[in-house]
Amino acid sequence: MGTAVKLLGTGSFVPERVLTNADFERMVDTSDEWIMSRTGIRERHVLSDGEKNSDMAVQAGYNALQAAHIAPEDVDHIIVCTFTPDMLVPNCACVVQSRLDAVNAGAVDINAACTGFISGLTHGAALVGSGQARRVLVIASEVLSRVTDYQDRGTCVLFGDGAGAAVLGSGDGGHAIGDFFLRADGSNPEALWIPAGGSNLPASANTVAERLHFIKMNGREVFKFAVTRMIELIEGAAERAGIKPGDIDLVVPHQVNQRIIQAAVERLGMREEQFYCNLEWYGNTSAASAAIALDEAVRKGRVKAGNTVVLVAFGGGFTWGSTTIKW
Ligand SMILES: CC(C)(COP(=O)(O)OP(=O)(O)OC[C@H]1O[C@@H](n2cnc3c(N)ncnc32)[C@H](O)[C@@H]1OP(=O)(O)O)[C@@H](O)C(=O)NCCC(=O)NCCS
Repeated sequence: MGTAVKLLGTGSFVPERVLTNADFERMVDTSDEWIMSRTGIRERHVLSDGEKNSDMAVQAGYNALQAAHIAPEDVDHIIVCTFTPDMLVPNCACVVQSRLDAVNAGAVDINAACTGFISGLTHGAALVGSGQARRVLVIASEVLSRVTDYQDRGTCVLFGDGAGAAVLGSGDGGHAIGDFFLRADGSNPEALWIPAGGSNLPASANTVAERLHFIKMNGREVFKFAVTRMIELIEGAAERAGIKPGDIDLVVPHQVNQRIIQAAVERLGMREEQFYCNLEWYGNTSAASAAIALDEAVRKGRVKAGNTVVLVAFGGGFTWGSTTIKW
């Protein structure tokens, strides 16, 4: 038996600048009506010129440490979940380590696309559970606005920027977190990918001209995958907790699209109020989305002592995963 792992605190941060559906009406051939009815998204926050991913990651991490009453020097490890780091080397976690002055921490980035936060929590909990770390700061931070093609109406209306964070630890206090479940299926990478900018297809005048540094997505395929996996994840988490999906107090899902969440609610025979949704105001912020939603749910008093809270996420890779927190 390993050490029991606790969630000690959460935090989040979104940039000030907002893109509304009316802004998109001026950029591409779309309408507020189309975006609202197909996605449920009204606004998204995006970074301004000169701001960067690590600015959000640092702020979200700082807020989570404050909530957990943990000093930066007591953090043993920092995990930043992102596929939009400031640069490839050094990793985003090293930038955060330095700016938070977490002088005793290791630092690593994890890329599991929209499943990033659950993946980060899983790996952070493994360090705490095995006794290799006492306190782990897990931050999910994404700047999708810098990899979004604002000429592609099929994707550009979906994405926003933001960061969420959680502190994991052991000992007294906090909320028991466990039942980590992670899966992947890498057989169809092109369903959701950024073709260029990695070592396979490095940046060149050609890749830039062909707009290959932006997210490409088969929306319908991703939609079907998302609904199927969300249902499986919730059913699995409920079964392992010995309860029915209708008995889960709060599901905090990846904030992907209201229709995807609605489809899962109906197919599982659950109630809408069992799901915490804020995608109307942030859009899809990939790895950060479930982290921001969890922090907001906590701060708004939606989570109460004794509650069973299930986090579920799915995304590019494909990757998907869940974890359960006993409040
Ligand atoms: C992207 C998504 C909203 C599109 O909704 P949809 O109902 O599947 O729409 P389709 O892709 O079938 O497109 C229907 C039509 O709307 C058009 N359309 C696409 N985006 C549009 C927009 N922003 N405004 C107006 N029309 C748009 C399409 O061009 C298409 O037109 P056509 O029939 O003339 O070709 C939906 O597929 C989706 O949410 N998928 C999941 C994507 C996601 O969340 N990915 C991240 C996962 S982590």
